[in-house]
Parts: sequence; structure tokens; C-alpha cells
Amino acid sequence: MSQTIGYKKSWYKEWFGEEYLTVYQHRDDKDARRLIELIHRNIQINPDSYLLDLACGNGRHSFLLSKFNRNVVGLDLSAHLLNEAQKRKINHESPAFVRADMRYFPFNIKFEVIFSLFTSFGYFDDDEKHFKVAAEISDSLKDDGWFVIDYFNPDYVKANLVSSGHRMIENYEIFEERWISNGRVHKLIHLHSSEGEKKFIESVKMFEHDELVSLLGKAGIAAKKTFGNYSGESYSKSSKRMIIFAKKEMNES
Ligand SMILES: C[S@@+](CC[C@H](N)C(=O)[O-])C[C@H]1O[C@@H](n2cnc3c(N)ncnc32)[C@H](O)[C@@H]1O
Repeated sequence: MSQTIGYKKSWYKEWFGEEYLTVYQHRDDKDARRLIELIHRNIQINPDSYLLDLACGNGRHSFLLSKFNRNVVGLDLSAHLLNEAQKRKINHESPAFVRADMRYFPFNIKFEVIFSLFTSFGYFDDDEKHFKVAAEISDSLKDDGWFVIDYFNPDYVKANLVSSGHRMIENYEIFEERWISNGRVHKLIHLHSSEGEKKFIESVKMFEHDELVSLLGKAGIAAKKTFGNYSGESYSKSSKRMIIFAKKEMNES
């Protein structure tokens, strides 16, 4: 039945609030630490570098990065998640949190490293918008700067999609339905509690590895290596994740 349900193009403006943090509570600081450790093992980041956690959510990666680094910025569109991030701050400095749409960076500084972690890309309804994000990333990276994107592996998702599920978290009874159509993976999330019923949708483009590498390449960011999980195993068709480390190409002019 869900296959016939469309998705609202701006679904991402509604879903990333309080309920998102409840449904994805297993994506916590411990999970974030594994990815940050993989990043630290693979690229050298000096303590003065400027780092951007793009689509930072409640800042779980930004806070870990700021343990080693004074100039961490987290950008996100969700007022609720940014507010949660602000509550965790223990001083007025790093990380700094900024509310903006990832297509329109509000910065006049450039970064040594930009991160897009835990499937925070592929949300828009057309590839021009995805390219716009890649172009903003490229424009805001210093020459030789790194871009790290942690995305799902579409082959793994196709082979392992669980079409429906039911679970209890806190005072919510959660029903989830998942399906693939038009090159996107969709999830319909029904939340029931004593306060009533809420429904949200997620809809993410299933970028193939080469397609994502090509999109980044067109924006001037060249993929250098891809890992298949947070432990650092190589990417293959059966990997759960697709973690691409890409480098801004030097401007030769
Ligand atoms: C899957 S969550 C990941 C959050 C964070 N990276 C993490 O790992 O906890 C995706 C994030 O993208 C943000 N987001 C969605 N659309 C956005 C947009 N157009 N511009 C900026 N952020 C956006 C959401 O608010 C949400 O915090």
C-alpha cells in the first residue's frame, strides 16, 4: 500500500525534531565515536583547523571533534536539534552551531574538513539540489581540504530491506514501513502514544557509489578511498555503509 503513497518534497523539514531523537536513540555518542575514530585514523586534522559538521543534528559528532579541535562549526536546519546541541554546550566557544539550509552556506570562512555524517545527504527531489550542496561544500573547502561523507550502501539496502517492523521505545509504539521506488528508499514512521498518533516520512535518494563519486567530482572534490563500515573495512557491494573520503582538487589557475 505504501508504494502508492507519495512523499512530501520537504519531508526533511518535519521529521528531524523531538521524535527523530527518540526513534534513532541508538545513534548515540558511542556510535558517533566509532566514526570519528575512523576519521582520525585516516586523515590528519590539526587542532587549529576549521571543521564543519554539515547537518550536525544534536551535535554528537561536533562535540567529539571539538575535544581535539577549537574551531568546530555545526550547521543544521532543525531548530529543535540545534537547541538540543546548544543545551549540551559547556562553554561559549567550540562547537559553534548555525541554523541554515545545506544548499546555502552562510560562511565567509573556508574549512580544512567538511563532514556529512550518518546519511545526511540525498534528501532533495532533484539532483540539481544535491549538486548545489556539493558545490557549496567545494567552495567552502580550502585547497587540499577533505570532505568525508558517511552514507548507506544502496546495494546493502536493496538486499536487506525489512518492509515492516514494530517496536516500543519509551512511551511510543512505533510502526515502520519501508519501500524502494523511483531510486529512493522511503520509510513511513507511525508513532502512537497516549497523546495520539503522528506520522512522518523519510525519503532518501539511493546514490550508487560511482554516481556519488561522479557528483562530487563535478563539484571539484575527488574521491580517494571508501570504507564499508565504521571499523574501517573496505567498501564492497555487501558493506552496510559507504564512507567516502574525498579531497578538494587544487585550483590550478
Ligand atoms: C540523519 S540526521 C543526522 C544528524 C547528524 N549528522 C547525526 O549523525 O546525528 C540528518 C540531519 O540533516 C538535517 N537536515 C535535513 N535537511 C537539511 C537541510 N536542507 N539543510 C541542513 N540540514 C538539514 C536534519 O535536521 C538532521 O539533523
